[in-house]
Amino acid sequence: MSSRFQAPRGTFDILPAGWEQRARVYAAAAQIFERAGYGRIETPAFEDRELFARGVGQSTDIVQKEMFSFTDQGGRGLTLRPEGTAPIVRAYVEHGMHRLAQPVKLWHWGPYFRHERPQSGRFREFNQIGAEAIGSDSPLVDAELIILLDELFRELGIAGIRLRLGSLGSPATRAAYRDELQAYLRQREAELAPTVRERIDLNPMRAFDSDDPGTRAVMEEAPTMLERLDDADAEHFAAVRAMVDRAGISYQLDPTLVRGLDYYTRTVFEFESDRLGAQAALGGGGRYDGLVEQLGGPSTPACGWAAGIERILLALDEEADEPGVDVFVAASEDQRERAFALVRELRRAGLRAELDLAERSLKGQMKQADRLGARAAIVLDEQQPAQLRDMTSGEQRELDLARAVEELGP
Ligand code: HAM
Repeated sequence: MSSRFQAPRGTFDILPAGWEQRARVYAAAAQIFERAGYGRIETPAFEDRELFARGVGQSTDIVQKEMFSFTDQGGRGLTLRPEGTAPIVRAYVEHGMHRLAQPVKLWHWGPYFRHERPQSGRFREFNQIGAEAIGSDSPLVDAELIILLDELFRELGIAGIRLRLGSLGSPATRAAYRDELQAYLRQREAELAPTVRERIDLNPMRAFDSDDPGTRAVMEEAPTMLERLDDADAEHFAAVRAMVDRAGISYQLDPTLVRGLDYYTRTVFEFESDRLGAQAALGGGGRYDGLVEQLGGPSTPACGWAAGIERILLALDEEADEPGVDVFVAASEDQRERAFALVRELRRAGLRAELDLAERSLKGQMKQADRLGARAAIVLDEQQPAQLRDMTSGEQRELDLARAVEELGP
């Protein structure tokens, strides 16, 4: 069957079998966060456009090209959230969470929207899981967050993971470094790709991201932020690294790690999987000590990360387990009400029980039980006493209905 309507480009439907896998990721994450004392937060799917322009940064690709923005009937400029950190900081400030014990530890799961070119692992509506710890500048926070994300990947059994770790310093050292880098790039402007040249003023750090061979050669000799960290930032970074080392997590130090959002200060990190193609980033994050104040709150340090659910699922790459049916209750026409009541009773007892909802013949119902992969079937037919059929062996025997739950129990 083909329909005139299809899910919009870069979006997808999550069907029941796909949800099973997601539920496993959700359950693993919920348990990890619960044990670490993180509370679940949910913010709206759209926010004031200005929140992202200010929070994520006017010069970023996200704000410049990727936001789905619209004007509502009241003339307000709104945007489907492209990321979760600015909204969570908005909520932190709006609800006066700075008055709670710090840091406030939050986690989230939900849909995000970016107008990117769709490809494997890159969508226009995708889902993220994320964590934010707001209100402490301790390197313990950075380390804990990195360890939690690593734990999630381990718990899910994702193989081939790499961690890249860097530090962007504080705004003052970063600004000085930015000037130095801009001067260096201008000196060698002729060797750079045109797109990089255009961005020297706006976002020189992005030059490290370029695939262009000429630009890469220039960047290999460029000064790096890690070489320019001031003492306090260098000390903070060393403390984070020591704790990550002690946790037995290996990483690659990346002096050029630039993330696509402007709010980062100090620690930045990104997990990649070699099971993903071009879109290798499974998740990433870092410290954003200036964002709360920038969005109107008191000066408050913070750190967090987000990971892409669809990328996690691609890296898992396992066949979805069909949810098994414990028992199918098949019934002749005059026994349907009995079957209906029995199924309710079986479900109340915790069994996955189904019955025919399409008025099939008894034979058709047995076929349906087979299609569903039912472990057992109960046959109610006024011609004979209730029967219990083992769907694997085909063995069938009489069943005392009063003992059905007991007989079918695990
Ligand atoms: P991000 O690196 O932009 O960070 O996104 C996090 C993750 O979301 C990526 O590593 C990737 O797995 C997934 N992702 C991003 N874009 C797409 C897409 N178009 N399709 C599928 N998956 C995608 C942030 O969003 C920050 N808010 C993270 C953070 C939290 N930093 C501090 N706190």
